[in-house]
Amino acid sequence: MNDVQRSRTLPGPKARALIERDRLVVSPSYVRDYPFAIAHGKGAEAWDVDGNRFVDFASGIAVCSTGHSHPEVVAAIKSSAEKFLHISCDYWHEGVVELAELMAKLDPVSGPAMSFFANSGTEAVEAALKLARQVTGRGRYIGFLGGFHGRTMGSLAFTASKYTQQRGYFPTMPGVVHVPYPNPYRPLFAGDDQGRAVLNYIEMLFERNLPPSEVAAILIEPIQGEGGYIVPPPGFLAGLRALCDKHGICLIFDEVQAGIGRTGRMFAWQHEGVRPDMITLAKGIASGMPIGLMVGARKYMEKWPPGSHANTFGGNPVCCAAALATLRLVGSGYADNARLMGERALARLRQFQQEFAVIGDVRGRGLMIGVEFVKDRATKAPAKEFATRLVTRAFENGLLLLECGASGLRIIPPLMIGAPLLDEGLDILHRSMRETLAELG
Ligand SMILES: Cc1ncc(COP(=O)(O)O)c(C=O)c1O
Repeated sequence: MNDVQRSRTLPGPKARALIERDRLVVSPSYVRDYPFAIAHGKGAEAWDVDGNRFVDFASGIAVCSTGHSHPEVVAAIKSSAEKFLHISCDYWHEGVVELAELMAKLDPVSGPAMSFFANSGTEAVEAALKLARQVTGRGRYIGFLGGFHGRTMGSLAFTASKYTQQRGYFPTMPGVVHVPYPNPYRPLFAGDDQGRAVLNYIEMLFERNLPPSEVAAILIEPIQGEGGYIVPPPGFLAGLRALCDKHGICLIFDEVQAGIGRTGRMFAWQHEGVRPDMITLAKGIASGMPIGLMVGARKYMEKWPPGSHANTFGGNPVCCAAALATLRLVGSGYADNARLMGERALARLRQFQQEFAVIGDVRGRGLMIGVEFVKDRATKAPAKEFATRLVTRAFENGLLLLECGASGLRIIPPLMIGAPLLDEGLDILHRSMRETLAELG
């Protein structure tokens, strides 16, 4: 059966039956762009319950960093699970200490580091927000338009990539002022240096509207994820660092999506050499097991008294084992592979850009690549319908993709993907673009 014929039969009968059962009992609040019902995965490939094979350029939203069910990660999980499944951070165990030691060794924040163990990205962000408030005694924050930091009431107050995320939940945590994220492709300010312009804007706020002495933290994604895979201009993060140092404000980098090898370096900030005071990590850190970390500078962390923040499941031994195995693999080759495969993908996507006027911009670092679609390159009007149709068409052709931003696509395969599968996925994308353009006329 060729791919076009297959496209007419998706979802298959087993997927359709599962989706029907799900519809009655699973929360409708999840976003499901296309009917993919997984049976199993291996590396950068996945199969649905009807036996259809897919190349995975989505990685379960940038989570399956070592690919689906990497044997070393699975072995670590099995061996840990056989010893004990849970004890809580009210006690001690080797996995928690080893992971925190490894984090300290990776040197992700300014000065010696300590780790708080959470279960997800949003919880890691909540921990950073709480720590910043407690150590500074200040109650206001700066976040960025287009940012995504999670969906609990604190992180949600910063999340601003689509209004559906906050709609119906106001008031969220008070005290957050949003400023523009510097976007070289869609400049909001006059002048060539959008980073400098945003820094000037924050300085203006500090002079007129927002006393810096009341600001606990600036929370930013060093590469904006859900909001459109936007790489800020060089020097911008350094400028934020300087502003924070000047005013005693904590700088928090949310690397839940961009961290752990995704950009070709262990941490995305390494491309700019600017260390934060706190960093939040989750998603790819344990290849799919639920763990989040807030790693903070010891000078702040040691001011957090017992009982001021904790949880039940944080530091789960099986998740720690998966994280340790993942970090070993990422540190000993997969981050480098992400850099090389990222360069390969970017080069090919830039060829696509020459061929298809609908591609306005291609950008990214490592295997965190965004492709932005426009109706017209002069006006840069978002081609949202094209992006949405393309993702569905690619699925029908055997490629898993995710959208981001106003009309963009993210290319986030597992970090271990090799050239043959990467090329196969890009071939499918190319064909899907041609078919989508033909379909939409
Ligand atoms: C940068 C960033 N921060 C935080 C989160 C929230 O993570 P979680 O969904 O694990 O709560 C996400 C999720 O997409 C994210 O991309």
